[in-house]
Amino acid sequence: MLPSDATGPASPAAADDPGVDAPLATAAESDAARRARAALAGVAPEPGAAKPDPILTAAGIRRAFGGIVAVDVERVEVQRGSITALIGPNGAGKTTFFNLLTGFDKPDTGTWSFDGKDMAGVAPHRMAARGMVRTFQLTKSLTKLPVIENMKLGATGQKGEKWWNGLIPGTWKQQEAEIEARADQLLQRFKLDHMRDEYAGALSGGQRKLLEMARALMTDPTLVMLDEPMAGVNPALKQSLNAHVKGLRDEGMTVLFVEHDMDMVHDISDWVIVMAEGRVIAEGTPDDISSNPAVIDAYLGMHQGRSLLEDL
Ligand SMILES: Nc1ncnc2c1ncn2[C@@H]1O[C@H](COP(=O)(O)OP(=O)(O)OP(=O)(O)O)[C@@H](O)[C@H]1O
Ligand SMILES: [Mg+2]
Repeated sequence: MLPSDATGPASPAAADDPGVDAPLATAAESDAARRARAALAGVAPEPGAAKPDPILTAAGIRRAFGGIVAVDVERVEVQRGSITALIGPNGAGKTTFFNLLTGFDKPDTGTWSFDGKDMAGVAPHRMAARGMVRTFQLTKSLTKLPVIENMKLGATGQKGEKWWNGLIPGTWKQQEAEIEARADQLLQRFKLDHMRDEYAGALSGGQRKLLEMARALMTDPTLVMLDEPMAGVNPALKQSLNAHVKGLRDEGMTVLFVEHDMDMVHDISDWVIVMAEGRVIAEGTPDDISSNPAVIDAYLGMHQGRSLLEDL
């Protein structure tokens, strides 16, 4: 079955807690940001552009629903250690593309690899165990479970899942303790530790977004795919999430994220991939993209000649 977030509105912002702090501000541009931008400086700003060190490569990925071709991506490469934004109008196929890459849906055709390994047919929890995780456009926290239990559920693909570890005294208990310690550490980092034992249902929309991101980190991933991590979140919390995303790159992770807010995209992305009607129609740096007529056409046909940033 498909996840239910393929379409539909983002969670409401009303109850967001504006008091969540961002991680300590770093220098204007971190070493990781400089490295990512330098690596991408020589890449041609065109659809399907080859990257110097891709962590994710997809080719010929197509998915139709009845008569609608939701995704028809010829080629996409995501540079290791970068923050790459995937943007495009509603219905462009961004979420479907995420679903395909992460094993929540199957493409009609196509191949893709993560860290050089073929990923077709690999189940989502196995991908997570290999280092590739995603979050959902509509948050997936289990509202009737405490926050800490939601976090522990993020720890898939670990030793404790194998039944034979139960035969070795101590192994499972130790594993549990390690998982809980990691969960508590992450809750602290995302300023959710005070909600540790509350039901996830008691969190605001923005806090649920933070919980999703924190939970995704339980498996210590190398590629984090975020589907609209900032949708429906108030401006103060957006700044916090924004800093967290930059923090992931600074720790060596690669981030691929879907976002509609162009200011945010401009602020945090090293590279932008634009989809429209299932296809990749443009790629480039945020500056390349905001002045690309094909992108402006895709969003708002009548706004040619004006900066995308002015319009959205
Ligand atoms: N399970 C499904 N069954 C039928 N059609 C679907 C399904 N999932 C997606 N689609 C269709 O595929 C197209 C792409 O949808 P998708 O949700 O991937 O777009 P998106 O770029 O994520 O949009 P948004 O920005 O609104 O989240 C749309 O036309 C959508 O209606
Ligand atoms: Mg979507």
